[in-house]
Amino acid sequence: MKDETEADLSGVSSRRRPKADAVELNGRRLKPATLMMGHGYDPMLSEGALKPPIFLTSTFVFENAAAGKRHFEGVTGKRPGGAEGLVYSRFNGPNQEILEDRLGVWEDAEDALTFSSGMAAIATVLLAMVQPGDVIVHSAPLYAATETLIGKILGRFGVQWLDFPAGASRDEIHAVLARAQGLGRVALIYLESPANPTNQLVDIEAVRASRDALFASGGHVPPIAIDNTFLGPLWQKPLHHGADLVLYSLTKYAGGHSDLVAGGAVGSKAVIGQIRAMRNTIGTIVDPHSAWMLLRSLETLELRMSRAGENAARVCAYLRDHPKVERVGYLGFLEPGSSQADIYRRHCTGAGSTFSLYLKGGERESFAFLDALRIAKLAVSLGGTETLASAPAAMTHLSVPDDRKLALGITDNLVRISIGVEDADDLLADMEQALKSI
Ligand SMILES: Cc1ncc(COP(=O)(O)O)c(C=O)c1O
Repeated sequence: MKDETEADLSGVSSRRRPKADAVELNGRRLKPATLMMGHGYDPMLSEGALKPPIFLTSTFVFENAAAGKRHFEGVTGKRPGGAEGLVYSRFNGPNQEILEDRLGVWEDAEDALTFSSGMAAIATVLLAMVQPGDVIVHSAPLYAATETLIGKILGRFGVQWLDFPAGASRDEIHAVLARAQGLGRVALIYLESPANPTNQLVDIEAVRASRDALFASGGHVPPIAIDNTFLGPLWQKPLHHGADLVLYSLTKYAGGHSDLVAGGAVGSKAVIGQIRAMRNTIGTIVDPHSAWMLLRSLETLELRMSRAGENAARVCAYLRDHPKVERVGYLGFLEPGSSQADIYRRHCTGAGSTFSLYLKGGERESFAFLDALRIAKLAVSLGGTETLASAPAAMTHLSVPDDRKLALGITDNLVRISIGVEDADDLLADMEQALKSI
């Protein structure tokens, strides 16, 4: 009988494992934009197909019973490192694994996971890391559904939370973390930067320094997780600034065409392994078709985000000086010398393409502007090829209590805009004619 040799198993895993010469050329590490075309995929294992086929199967045939046992040892955590081969589509699949390899490339991450939505990624992380009675410390505001999940749903299981404003100073962050330590086991430090919808940046390096200082004396060290949906993976790489885990709604810039819903997580093998075990149990993995679409999308990620960023810079420069505009909340306009500008300089390489436009007036003016737009579409997402605009106070944040809305700057005159890759002059013409109508 053939024994279960490494050769048998490496035959399985080589389907996706990047060969050293695939990520390097003459000692030069290849850039993500190059690696998105083929990293993690060997065409010869799929009849020479240049692009990976979509593997629509619910389960995978084992080479022999011993291989099946070994894979399950990985899936169940009896052996660290996860399954070495393909097992069952709730656990893994070729499209998802290639996608995970490529997603990790953008941030030099050791490991990555993909999920059926951004919220599925966040929920799986929270379920994996938090126990009843624990404390979560988070920056504020968070995407509304994340706030609901932490505050209302985990609250039902006795989980407490403490928050600090996204723009908080080192001292304020330190004080909140120290207070949390006195309340119970701090399971997780959860950040969102820039915050949705205020665009405030969180000082990740300051959070890391406080976490390390306060939790150095042993016991549980809470991982730092961050939702990097608004600037990642191109313009902000939080693993380089002290985060342990980076989360994504891949629905936005990564998917980039407003035609799929998915989520992602990248980080160290140890942190990702813990989350993978929970994903295996509850089945929040992305489906093969969406994973395939995301592989297509990642090939143009840098092109799309760069173009959208350039367009946004032009549109914001135009809007800032318009007499009907009160203010533009855009990361390219941070006040020199301010703490936000300092964080931006240390953490970010681009201002993004999603910003807040405050019109002079209130709901009447913002609605008139939205209704008059001809190129930009009135819809509530971001990061797609097309420009989208919405009114957060009346739409995404309608359920937020009025006093909290005011404190966060979610006023009736706020229009949220995500700039796409259209011609910039056409977008300027659209803004101009819509502003005329109010
Ligand atoms: C910052 C942020 N995080 C998470 C999510 C949730 O992502 P999804 O809609 O893919 O579940 C969103 C959605 O808008 C978001 O803006």
